[in-house]
Amino acid sequence: MTGVDLAVVPAAGLGTRMRPATRAIPKAMLPVVDRPAVQHVAEEAVRAGVSEVVFIVDPGVGSLIEKHFSEGGLLPGLEDLVIRTVVQDNPGGLGHAVLTARRAIDDRSFFCLLVDNMVRPGADVLPALAAAADGGSVVALREVGPHMLERYGVVIPGARQGSSLDVLGAVEKPGVENAPSNLGLVGRYLFTSEILEALGGLEPGHGGEIQLTDAIDVVARRGRCRGVVGEHDLLDIGIPVGLLEAAVVLGLARPEYRDDLRAILRSVEEQR
Ligand code: G1P
Repeated sequence: MTGVDLAVVPAAGLGTRMRPATRAIPKAMLPVVDRPAVQHVAEEAVRAGVSEVVFIVDPGVGSLIEKHFSEGGLLPGLEDLVIRTVVQDNPGGLGHAVLTARRAIDDRSFFCLLVDNMVRPGADVLPALAAAADGGSVVALREVGPHMLERYGVVIPGARQGSSLDVLGAVEKPGVENAPSNLGLVGRYLFTSEILEALGGLEPGHGGEIQLTDAIDVVARRGRCRGVVGEHDLLDIGIPVGLLEAAVVLGLARPEYRDDLRAILRSVEEQR
């Protein structure tokens, strides 16, 4: 176990890249295989020893999430999980979302899991983040291709030992010309409460929003951030083709669906 018992899941956002699916249904409630995205991330957090998950949601969405996890129908493996929701009234960016949960977080360290990104089966990253922690924050990284440098936050790397390194700074969506490296932030973080103080002092950044990456830059420049470079990419359910991929990858990992799904994929391929 990791010794971190709190996870914060920013799950607000309009889901514009998933329209029209998200016109009436929040993106965090879209099903992947047989359960909504929020349950997948809650299960990932529980596997890392978390006992409390705080979801940051748009107005009106909290009751849906609470109903999903409610005592009326306890979910196997999640019976002891405490679920809380915090409402982000105005969309002000990912950093603003995390800051909204400030009171719920208090001075605790916490995992932060972006609901758009889902780990592949057997490729959890939270334990490695906890293992690399030396009192500061730790971010999950991956080597990304040039076209991803305008879609991801990118770090300034320092000394590296194996898969872990010192992070000296971070830039949100720098693009290929300005990227300080090819190491992208992939939506999994371990923060100390220092990140909240850093977020509180930020001006709007990329896109006019309060960026979590800018707060990572602040703590990194203090020498308080490390990174862990993973081998596997995360599934991106924020776009239609990514949601399809996630359904296939996670479906194939489930013994009760594996054989049928394999047969379906084979016959679809043969009919092309
Ligand atoms: C967010 C973060 C970005 C990170 C990305 C990972 O961007 O701002 O730093 O690399 O998630 O998916 P978004 O995908 O919300 O534009």
